[in-house]
Amino acid sequence: MLLLLDCINAFFTDTVPPWSCSTFRPIPLNTCLSHAVHSSPLLQHSSGTLLGHGFSGAVHSFPAFGSHPALAVKTFASQNPGEDTDTYLSPILNEYNLASLLSHHPGIIKTYDLFTDGQHWHQSMEYAPFRLQDLVTGGKLSKDEVDCVFAEIFDVVNYMHGLGVAHLDLKMSNVMVGEDGRVRVIDFGSAVKFQVEYENDVVFVSGEHGALSFSAPEVLGGIPYDPKLADVWALGVMYVCTILGRCPWQQARTFDESYQRFSSRPEDLLELLPRHLRYNIGRMLKIDPAQRLTMDEIVQNGTLLQASKGCLNLERLAASRAPNEYE
Ligand SMILES: Nc1ncnc2c1ncn2[C@@H]1O[C@H](COP(=O)(O)OP(=O)(O)O)[C@@H](O)[C@H]1O
Ligand SMILES: [Mg+2]
Repeated sequence: MLLLLDCINAFFTDTVPPWSCSTFRPIPLNTCLSHAVHSSPLLQHSSGTLLGHGFSGAVHSFPAFGSHPALAVKTFASQNPGEDTDTYLSPILNEYNLASLLSHHPGIIKTYDLFTDGQHWHQSMEYAPFRLQDLVTGGKLSKDEVDCVFAEIFDVVNYMHGLGVAHLDLKMSNVMVGEDGRVRVIDFGSAVKFQVEYENDVVFVSGEHGALSFSAPEVLGGIPYDPKLADVWALGVMYVCTILGRCPWQQARTFDESYQRFSSRPEDLLELLPRHLRYNIGRMLKIDPAQRLTMDEIVQNGTLLQASKGCLNLERLAASRAPNEYE
């Protein structure tokens, strides 16, 4: 994995890592990459099933084959004619680098390889069979299970923030559930590194990231913002959407009437939530980011459940495994 990444970085940055990929430098990039790729035999064996697609490309699943576990493979959109290669590759490498950095947490999808077949770039990952969205909208989770799932998600996001990474696209469709019944956060396409190792300063971010209904007011306000606190807002909105079965507003801008109502009387929304959540969700949805709880405070706060080793009943999950909508 390291070899692969350093090959890529060395190829584009002209730096030579200590063990050196430089012996491969005159050779085309994908020849260099093929030294570290282990996903390709699986891909050749099967054509894959479409799992979903979004802004960055399409994701297919490949069933387990021989000693290879089942994989999910994201195929990135191809380079536009005339597009500069560095500009094209930069977000792909950012997504892969950050996803790999975070892969050690059990609540984050494991990312394996980044490779090209000459036409497209592909990123292979651990396959997670359940979409949290399906479990929630199908009414398959009890209230305790919902609290437990959110405790797991909070634990994951707190871990990310501890490593100086913000997700910036937290929403239902970016949370999957593994065979073990534990959450897997996916999709690091908008993620940013906001802190350099051994430094405390947070690098603020500009520009809109993520889905509109989960975006914090400061993200939509066009000013630089702390990406950690934007994640906290998105999680607050996600929790409310899950409990109420609908999201509270379309966008956190004053011309959105529902949001306008919330900004003048937040208690009207908070009163619809179970008592034990009102204080925390109220503090996660503070319009002024300086007043918002941090992930660390949320995880330390005893009123929310602490992350456990799997919240969901696996037998019930297996029985409710929905056929893939693309199959
Ligand atoms: N590792 C995975 N296992 C199972 N399904 C996945 C996996 N990764 C992505 N998906 C499915 O593909 C969809 C799109 O993937 P995602 O990484 O979110 O791409 P995008 O950046 O285009 O939103 C997800 O919402 C999910 O349904
Ligand atoms: Mg996504």
